[in-house]
Amino acid sequence: MTSASLQASRGTRDIWGSEILLWQFLEQQARDILGRANYQEIRTPIFEATELFSRGIGEGTDIVNKEMYTFTDRGDRSLTLRPEGTAGVVRSLIEHKRLNQGVQRCWYQGAMFRYERPQAGRQRQFHQLGVEVFGSADPRADVEVMALAWEFLQALSLPGLTLELNSVGDPEDRQRYQAALVEYLTPYAQALDPDSQVRLTKNPLRIWDSKSPATQDILTAAPRLPAYLGSAAQAHFEQVQAGLTALGLTYTLNPRLVRGLDYYTRTAFEITTTDLGAQAAVGGGGRYDGLVQALGGTPTPAVGWAMGLERLVVLLQKQGETPAPRLDFYIVAQGEGTGILSLQISQMLRRQGFRVEIDLSNSALGKQLKRADKLGSHACVILGENEVQSQQIPVKWLATGVQEWVDFPAGFADDERWRQKFAAIPRPKGP
Ligand code: HAM
Repeated sequence: MTSASLQASRGTRDIWGSEILLWQFLEQQARDILGRANYQEIRTPIFEATELFSRGIGEGTDIVNKEMYTFTDRGDRSLTLRPEGTAGVVRSLIEHKRLNQGVQRCWYQGAMFRYERPQAGRQRQFHQLGVEVFGSADPRADVEVMALAWEFLQALSLPGLTLELNSVGDPEDRQRYQAALVEYLTPYAQALDPDSQVRLTKNPLRIWDSKSPATQDILTAAPRLPAYLGSAAQAHFEQVQAGLTALGLTYTLNPRLVRGLDYYTRTAFEITTTDLGAQAAVGGGGRYDGLVQALGGTPTPAVGWAMGLERLVVLLQKQGETPAPRLDFYIVAQGEGTGILSLQISQMLRRQGFRVEIDLSNSALGKQLKRADKLGSHACVILGENEVQSQQIPVKWLATGVQEWVDFPAGFADDERWRQKFAAIPRPKGP
């Protein structure tokens, strides 16, 4: 019987090899930068009750209508793989009564799932890094989260990014605007693209996202959201802009920016790049003052963002090759008793903080030495039967070809000796 070979599911991928170094680098930068701003990491479950997302993200959104991985478990519960991180974090803070304990700042990172048509930069399983701040309506909170996003991207040295900013107003502003937009568009309904025709009744603001030139033509003369902001939302928007300017963050106002999730109020923003083709958004977020209450908590203002890590990795890869961390010692061994010795020496060297690999191939010494070269190890420890007897071990420095003799065990346990040897060798810090 033959069977088709097993492959990763469509829209998912394995992350390994030199790419994983970029992920580790991203994660480390995030930890450092968010840690310095005193954000606490939170890890919420990968699946949640379906209702959390349908109520949180909005029944009229593409995510809820078309993109959720929803299933019934053996206990007949409807569950959904999280399509984003915000709703789960809100659920968690409500459940653990953390929202009456002053301002809460958290960050998270993990896999999200959306049933989308896969293409470059768009997957069905992807990873987000996100932050959420609860309990402050102060425009400084909006500025703080945007500045942190920017700080993080600066640390990655990514060029060509734009911070696009808008205000989607308070719910009553949006209602008035939505009514005006529908009134304007209704006479053109037949000329809109099919998706926009559906959105006209379900989620009119999202028509701004349409890629159809005909629809965009019609929108040219449509009423714009900023003209409908109430005075409170307008004042908030101005203070956010003043804060960004004071911190030296350049932004572009984009009155067409409407986000794909329904929970936003006032500030909405995206960080875009020209280097990723159609999937231009590396991150997005905004304020969502109504979500906590909509999910059953006491009314709590909140603001946050999430970035797509795959998209950041692609941008880092475009910047150039990743330097792999060099191996410090490669231990080759052949002959009676060398196996145990190789284990002992590797343990001693690793305990001193060195990166050490033992050759487990049992192949000819020459072949093992070639592998040490190929891996770019700094030094090679060479073990044969004679060395087991004499306890004098050759260590070869591959850059110079110089070989020295080190006694076992004392010489290998001598931290100072190795530190001096390595002091002159430059070590890569990361990409
Ligand atoms: P979002 O705009 O839906 O916002 O997603 C944030 C980012 O996740 C996007 O800008 C993109 O980089 C990445 N992303 C989304 N879908 C995919 C995909 N299929 N493949 C690869 N990357 C993708 C949110 O999810 C909100 N929860 C952000 C937020 C947090 N707002 C407030 N707090």
